Parts: sequence; C-alpha cells; structure tokens
Amino acid sequence: MTQKKVRLAIIGGTGVYDPRILENIREEVITTPYGQAKVRIGTYAGEEVAFMARHGVDHSVPPHLINYRANIYALKMLGVERVIATTAVGSCNRNMKPGDFVVVDQFLDFTKGRVSTFFEGGEAGVVHTDVTEPYCPELRKVLIAAAQEVGVHAHPTGTYVCTEGPRFETAAEIRMYGQLGGDLVGMTNVPECVLAREAGICYATVSMVTNFGAGISPNPLTHEEVLEVMAANGENLKKLLFAALRQ
Ligand code: HPA
Repeated sequence: MTQKKVRLAIIGGTGVYDPRILENIREEVITTPYGQAKVRIGTYAGEEVAFMARHGVDHSVPPHLINYRANIYALKMLGVERVIATTAVGSCNRNMKPGDFVVVDQFLDFTKGRVSTFFEGGEAGVVHTDVTEPYCPELRKVLIAAAQEVGVHAHPTGTYVCTEGPRFETAAEIRMYGQLGGDLVGMTNVPECVLAREAGICYATVSMVTNFGAGISPNPLTHEEVLEVMAANGENLKKLLFAALRQ
C-alpha cells in the first residue's frame, strides 16, 4: 500500500474504464477486510488521483455483485477524502434527455439484496447514518461549476432511483418511479454513496443519461445503446472531470 495519501478518487461507471486522463499510472491491489479492490493511481496537475472501474476494466462485474464495501474501504485506506463517481442512467423525466449530465442530489433506494453498511453490529457497532443530503454538497458545487466552465449542460439536481438490476425495468416500474419523484434510474449508486458517507468520504455523482426508461423509450433497451451514448459523450465527460479536478 502507498504511504502517501491519495486524496481524490474517480469511480468510473459503465463506459468509463480508461484512467488515461492521469499520468504515471500504477496499479495497486488493496486487501481490505471485505476482499480485494483494484485501483489505478496516477497524477493530474501534480496531485495523485485514484481511479477505480466499478464494473472491472472489462465490465465483468454486474451491479448487484460489485463489492462496494471493498471498493470504498480501499479508497479510505488510501486516504481518499473526496470521490467523484460517474454513472450511466436511464431517464424517467422527459426533461432529462439522452446525452444530458445530471449532478444528482437525492436517491430512492429500490435495491433488494445488497449489504449496504459497514456497521453490522459486533465490534463495528450499530450506526444509523444521516442521509438527509446523501451527496456531498461541496463536491456537487464543484461539479456544477466545472460543467459551466467547460460549457457542458448539466442539470444541477436530480433524484436517482437505484434498482437491483441487472435487468432493465418494466414500463410500469419506470412510470411508478416517475410518479414517486424519481428522475433517473441506475443500478449502482446505492450502496456506494451510503458506504462513502459511512466512511466519512465526501462523495458526489455525475450521471449521464444514456436512454429514456422502458416504456418512454419506443425500443427495447440494450446495453450496447448505453455504451454508444456513453462513447458519443465521453469527451464531454472527460472535460467535465478534468475541470472538476482542477477546482
Ligand atoms: N435502467 C437502469 N440502469 C440504466 C439504464 C436504465 O434504463 N440505462 C443505463 N443504466
């Protein structure tokens, strides 16, 4: 493990596997009480930044099987204080269109079978964490300012509905999520966001809309479609991340 603290990390979601925005990249496998996590560490503007591909570099880990605890614990071990996560999402809000960025500020948790806490009693204790404001307001401001700086349109708020996956939703589910106040639908922000909060890490997400949700979209959804939109907008995402790293 490195001795020097790595204060900032990017967790790359679907379509964001390439840490080449960083220089002098090295790979570290970090052993945590929850299993191992693979991190690449490089520098940007003289500062060390960690990069983690949430689904593995070859998108081999489905959302419900990601070892969220090992990932966040590993970042904590490195000394990470701030995490910018990217997520590909569907939209249940007609004003949030494919290609749009959203700096989400709330989530609705519809996950079913995930371990979503570091605190399982015993030595760790029982802890009930406040998530009134689940995403770090300071880092959200940084992302909103970064988007403005580079001229990328980003919605400054949005509610992320986290589903269990790995299937996409039914049309009725998307309708319900919209009625409940959800704007976006994805499969990974819970428990990632919550574990970061438990670990005392300032965590924010920039979501990129890759498709309208089932039933709004006239076609059946495919993972290829999600990847295509991510690829088409990858440069904008990179610009936004660069600008955020500079702040
Ligand atoms: N649903 C859930 N997760 C997603 C979607 C979607 O429509 N698009 C990208 N990730």
